[in-house]
Amino acid sequence: MKKYIQDFTVTRKLTLSKEYYVLDLKQDKPLPEILPGQFAELAIRGNESVFLRRPFSIHDVNYETNTIRILIQIVGNGTRHLSGIETGRTLNMVYPLGKGYSIIETGKKALLIGGGCGVAPLLYLARQLNQKGVNVTTLIGVRTRDLLIEIEQYQKFGEVLITTEDGSTGAKGFVTSHPLFGNLSRFDKIYTCGPEVMMKAIAKRADAAGVNCEVSLENSMACGIGACLCCVTETEEGNKCVCTEGPVFNIKELAWQI
Ligand code: FES
Repeated sequence: MKKYIQDFTVTRKLTLSKEYYVLDLKQDKPLPEILPGQFAELAIRGNESVFLRRPFSIHDVNYETNTIRILIQIVGNGTRHLSGIETGRTLNMVYPLGKGYSIIETGKKALLIGGGCGVAPLLYLARQLNQKGVNVTTLIGVRTRDLLIEIEQYQKFGEVLITTEDGSTGAKGFVTSHPLFGNLSRFDKIYTCGPEVMMKAIAKRADAAGVNCEVSLENSMACGIGACLCCVTETEEGNKCVCTEGPVFNIKELAWQI
């Protein structure tokens, strides 16, 4: 897919919690096709400690307003600096990067599982699946209920289930302890993004239940275009760059011991 380097205007910044905020980035020209699971590299200017672009999942896309939404977790200098940006400012973005999730056929049942900031690519995926007539269930796992964000957004596209490690809301424990793991085979496909340990546990259960499963890896990235090799992961066909061959992989492709 062709990549674009374009300036976007920040049309909205919404603080969701102490850690999370979303930016709406608008372009004058029509957006190219963007697949759910693809990502963008944003240039963060005005901070000497941040030299490289930073990768962010594409959280949602509105083709009518030419707007891309990015969900950002404050985890370091770059994301903290970016959180100070005001509406009306310009951000330069390289997009759409990587390979996205594959969409299943109309009438099938999809289970989307996000852990922590791993929910980021799942909103646009839920939108696309819903538009295609796929039945969507979303399971979101967090440490505690204060970390839950935008549940109502996901509810627009289907049922949303929650787990919290401390039991403050939803089912208590990790996502894999949710009761729906007792009957995984009712789903045609599982899509997941989050910490690798969570995705490996999900992959193991999906494999045992014979359910097709795609994961989006969150390896560290720098260039985002396959040049620096800092993002490689081991697959059944040797090492592959997550930024160009992923970030989405089918679990059968990865050299995971599941
Ligand atoms: Fe540079 Fe993947 S981020 S090769």
